[in-house]
Amino acid sequence: KKVVLAYSGGLDTTVILHWLKENYDYEVIAVCVDVGQGKELDGMEEKALKNGASKLYIEDAKEEFMKDYVFPMLKAGAVYESKYYLGTSIARPLIAKKFVEIALKEGAEAICHGCTGKGNDQVRFELAIKALAPQLKIIAPWRIWDIKSREDEIEYLEKRGLEVPMTREESYSRDRNMWHLSHEGLDLEDPSKEPNYIKLLKLGVSPEQAPDEPTYIELEFEKGIPVKLNGETLSPVDLMFKLNEIGGKNGIGLSDILENRVVGMKSRGVYETPGGVILYAAHEELEHMCLDHQTYAYKQQVALKYAELIYSGEWFTPLREALAAFVDATQETVTGKVRLKLYKGNIIPAGTTSPYSLYNESIASFTTGDLYSHKDAEGFINLYGLPSKVRAMMKQRNQ
Ligand code: ARG
Ligand code: SIN
Repeated sequence: KKVVLAYSGGLDTTVILHWLKENYDYEVIAVCVDVGQGKELDGMEEKALKNGASKLYIEDAKEEFMKDYVFPMLKAGAVYESKYYLGTSIARPLIAKKFVEIALKEGAEAICHGCTGKGNDQVRFELAIKALAPQLKIIAPWRIWDIKSREDEIEYLEKRGLEVPMTREESYSRDRNMWHLSHEGLDLEDPSKEPNYIKLLKLGVSPEQAPDEPTYIELEFEKGIPVKLNGETLSPVDLMFKLNEIGGKNGIGLSDILENRVVGMKSRGVYETPGGVILYAAHEELEHMCLDHQTYAYKQQVALKYAELIYSGEWFTPLREALAAFVDATQETVTGKVRLKLYKGNIIPAGTTSPYSLYNESIASFTTGDLYSHKDAEGFINLYGLPSKVRAMMKQRNQ
């Protein structure tokens, strides 16, 4: 009998590995999905095997992450509660999909993950697993064992004379991938306090530390997807890493939010999404140019729902897929170039062009052109304002 374990080589998953071996009769297949967390993956196999796993899979999912998860989210313009660019949420369904693929290949009967019983991640993993392979059992040690803290975990290992894969030094609860980095816990748990950005940040600097000179960039999109940066064609993965670097240096993409978790509580998070926020801003500029009013307005509604579905782990659902089809239809003409000025945490539009632009200078200009007659406006306003006029007349009659 086999179990697939979500493995990172850190404290949690090391304890879980030993706990699984002690409490179940399973062969443990460790799996680490690379979504660009930038961690040293060398030496991990040795570590996993030494701690009792029979095998370690390292799955490079960076390109799939960008193409099939990040880009659909970007095209939708999904943002959770106005502030969270969904970096952790969007990676979970893909990571779960990789666990499922390996579980099926290995003939495993269960998947084990290290999420706590207080968070969103357990919900996301498990909803995805249920949607893809409902027969698989799920083991969530944090909902079973008596371990309650990092100290308990360290004690668990030390009692058994095992190596502790980390120092005792306290650290934030972080989740990193190529789209974002999240920070939770410690002093952040008091929302009355400003985060200590200098200590906290890993992907970039805080705006006051950014250069005094602005950085100009140009992004080119094809059907809502970024394909070039500063005139150079880049793969999605390369483009993302490059943009993170540029954004991080300019103090872009910080978000400090008190968010509503799926499990009912509010929690405080600080997020770094340096490249992601730039992509959202550029994409949005292009949509302002290329989408008609009704499509744009309706798409804003869809973005809200889309974000909620991503946040709450409902990626592999008929509604999410149907909304994605709608979004794709809107992106047919979202093609063009956007120039942006990055300056101390700000993203300032610096010129947009598109072959599909719906902007017509001759119509919009104060100098009258042939396509628009001032005279037409009078009749238009008479009809458009008719309901207001009729209602006002009714009120006068009844005074
Ligand atoms: N609160 C964020 C979310 O729900 C970030 C979660 C971070 N997860 C983690 N395992 N550290 O998406
Ligand atoms: C966890 O509790 O496992 C991390 C935080 C979250 O899932 O929201």
